[in-house]
Amino acid sequence: MFYLDACATAPLRPGVLQRMVETQDQAWANPSSLHQFGLKASEALERARSQIAAKLSAEHREVVFTSGATESIHLALHGLAASRSPGRLVISSVEHPAVSGAARLLSKSGWDVTEWPVDQLGRIRLEHLDQLLAPPTKIVSLVWGQGEVGTIQPLLTVAEACRTRGIPIHTDATQILSQALPSWKHLPVDLLSSSAHKCGGPRGIGLLMTRESYRSALKPLLSGGGQEGGLRSGTESVVLAVGMAAALDQIECCPPDDLARSGHGIADLRDALRDRLLRDQRLMVCGDPQDRLPHHLSLLVSDHNGQPVSGRQLVRSLDACGLAVSSGSACSSGKDSDSPVLASMGLPQMMRRSSIRISLGPWIEHKDLDGIVQRFHQGLEETLCS
Ligand SMILES: Cc1ncc(COP(=O)(O)O)c(C=O)c1O
Repeated sequence: MFYLDACATAPLRPGVLQRMVETQDQAWANPSSLHQFGLKASEALERARSQIAAKLSAEHREVVFTSGATESIHLALHGLAASRSPGRLVISSVEHPAVSGAARLLSKSGWDVTEWPVDQLGRIRLEHLDQLLAPPTKIVSLVWGQGEVGTIQPLLTVAEACRTRGIPIHTDATQILSQALPSWKHLPVDLLSSSAHKCGGPRGIGLLMTRESYRSALKPLLSGGGQEGGLRSGTESVVLAVGMAAALDQIECCPPDDLARSGHGIADLRDALRDRLLRDQRLMVCGDPQDRLPHHLSLLVSDHNGQPVSGRQLVRSLDACGLAVSSGSACSSGKDSDSPVLASMGLPQMMRRSSIRISLGPWIEHKDLDGIVQRFHQGLEETLCS
């Protein structure tokens, strides 16, 4: 069985579980306690924070632990919105439901949520930049690496433009950080969200990177003990923080304009797989062919007559043949619903049901490609015969 669904979640990276077990053993206490047990836990927590901050070229205080990207996104958007009067919130039309859901909630409290349209590759249309960043825009949130079709957005261009206009910008970098750690110090964004489990860390922890200038303006979602500098109350999970730090420690640092080739050569592996699969003319790449997540391949599949094949059915056949992939994003692949991402890229409805996502991780090697391609063809034939 080959696991090709890294964008949904990834297994723990080597040594992560061991670090977590050691931490649970030795630093299990409440990090707010003043006795020696508590101090040990607090030291482990802050060491994990420092380690992550160092990898991202950030300040210790700029790393806020949350339960995952979904919570970080809500803290960023609702936290910012609470400190200003309602205006326009711009998000792209290809956001993860965590962003569109947070935005929808804000629209109920007077925010005008405007979606930045994308082209057929899933890339935001930069010709709308001046219009979308004009008043009354007060917050922008843009996914950096899109999880369903893999397109990397021109975040740096938009972020520079936001900075010039004094508009805070948040990015959902959940799928980016699994491949490469950009330097936060040089990134023109104000808030950044991610989840550990996409990076080979444990589930149940994520981070929100915050600039000092926006930190005091952020209103917490949860009140209570005032942990995480008052931004996220609740007793911290030292074990999960240590696990996240151990996973991120194994990810390479990368200039933010070179993400498409980051990830220890995983893009070469993905390209080799893509080229071999595309010898079958019933398959077509979806999303940006160049500016895309290095481990991500999104395909539209049709039959001999050019009729779209059901992605969900193909996923089941591939599973039976030994390949674990997903149709669309993991969040939507369990449901028989239309893909708003593919719809906003202008794909006809029938084709939208024919997409599958293959996402690789460091556990896949070049020598696996023969087996993967052979299983893929077997699964496709079985779907077509059923
Ligand atoms: C781009 C993106 N943002 C946010 C999330 C939500 O992450 P989590 O479920 O870990 O909170 C995901 C998960 O698939 C994602 O791909």
